[in-house]
Amino acid sequence: SEIRSTFLDFFQSKGHAIVPSAPLVMKDDPTLMFTNAGMNPFKDVFIGARPATHARIADTQKCLRVSGKHNDLEEVGIDTYHHTLFEMLGNWSFGDYFKQEAIDWAWELLTEVYGLNPEQLYVTVFGGDAGDGLAADDEARGMWGKHVAADRILDGSKKDNFWEMGETGPCGPCSEIHMDLRPAAERSAQPGAALVNADHPQVIEIWNLVFMQFQRKADGSLVPLPAQHVDTGMGFERLVRAIEGKSSNYDTDVFKPYLDKLSQLSGRIYGQEERIDIAFRVIADHIRAVAFAIADGQLPASGGAGYVIRRILRRAVRYGYSDLGFRDPFMTHLVPVMQEAMGEAFPELHQQGALVAQVIAEEESAFLRTLESGLKRLDAAMGEAKDGVVSGARAFELYDTFGFPLDLTALICRENGMSVDDAGFGEEMAQQKARSRAASAQKVGDWVELAQGQSDRFIGYT
Ligand code: ALA
Repeated sequence: SEIRSTFLDFFQSKGHAIVPSAPLVMKDDPTLMFTNAGMNPFKDVFIGARPATHARIADTQKCLRVSGKHNDLEEVGIDTYHHTLFEMLGNWSFGDYFKQEAIDWAWELLTEVYGLNPEQLYVTVFGGDAGDGLAADDEARGMWGKHVAADRILDGSKKDNFWEMGETGPCGPCSEIHMDLRPAAERSAQPGAALVNADHPQVIEIWNLVFMQFQRKADGSLVPLPAQHVDTGMGFERLVRAIEGKSSNYDTDVFKPYLDKLSQLSGRIYGQEERIDIAFRVIADHIRAVAFAIADGQLPASGGAGYVIRRILRRAVRYGYSDLGFRDPFMTHLVPVMQEAMGEAFPELHQQGALVAQVIAEEESAFLRTLESGLKRLDAAMGEAKDGVVSGARAFELYDTFGFPLDLTALICRENGMSVDDAGFGEEMAQQKARSRAASAQKVGDWVELAQGQSDRFIGYT
């Protein structure tokens, strides 16, 4: 809580208005299923369709990255630094300050206020892209030079250093701050520069400063925005880890309360066995996504955004069932933990608490029954297996309809002296992915101005 409020206080002292997080579900943006970046609520301001309420704003925004362009779901829980739901701390300038202040303030906050060791920080700048006709961002490189030695300022590709909200929308070159959290001995043996943006679990991006200058149109072209803006996003959970000096996000104050509660509920201990640890992490992560989504009005459902929430919840229940031995609803008992941990910053957790707990309990009960039926189904599949191999189609049915991941099916088969046709499963999966890609393709056409200069005044309330 202190780390969060220090961020907000810092930017307030630099003239920013502090606003509450927008909901996770953006009902009025057909290009997005969930809020996936702090800038989403300000998209219309960037493209000039709506004036800003303030020239400078800062907040912490609930973000969910499980579908669409920014998709981390497969990583979550397996590693120690990806999440479905995360908080993005951000500061914005709407046509006000630009690169210089964004860079100077980010550096001041990290090194002087939070006291991070500058020797562990690296920054990246956009290296240019011929396809888009964009030059390298030498301006940002020069500005970083005031704070950071030249060998810690690294060129980045379009993939890492040109930030886009989605297929269309506002975008621009960006400059990221990465931190090398390896122990000192490892750091001196091998400099961290080569590990930046290389999926190293201890050398991680913590803050992204985007210099919004363009709008990507549906035909792929870039059009300059009416004004230049700043959009920054810092991963709160990673920042806490950097400040607390932990090697995993889950070892920080952010996640510890959930792990403790899970330990108490399951009788298992975190940190002794990888399989158990993954289950702990999956559940600690997923409860936050599911509870916020429900508090914001997105109930689990059989299609669209509701189905994404249902799948996240089921993934957690399944890990709890197969690895922590839960047979009764357990996720719902984590709701009070979350209220305690985050309720002050996000009052909706208290306002909607009863609904959240009830919906989760019902979903869990229903899915636990499904899991039991899946086990019966698997028994039958093993009974009909040829040469001790359960077919890919059967394994896929268990995955798709009963939420059994392949490794769970394989594990149970092994325990019964059998195996699964992995390749057959892969083929079924590929077909299903193709089907769902086609089904979830979203409409991404550009806005069209129908009537210039006309406006209406809403008088319904009077
Ligand atoms: N919009 C930028 C991001 O999400 C800050 O990384």
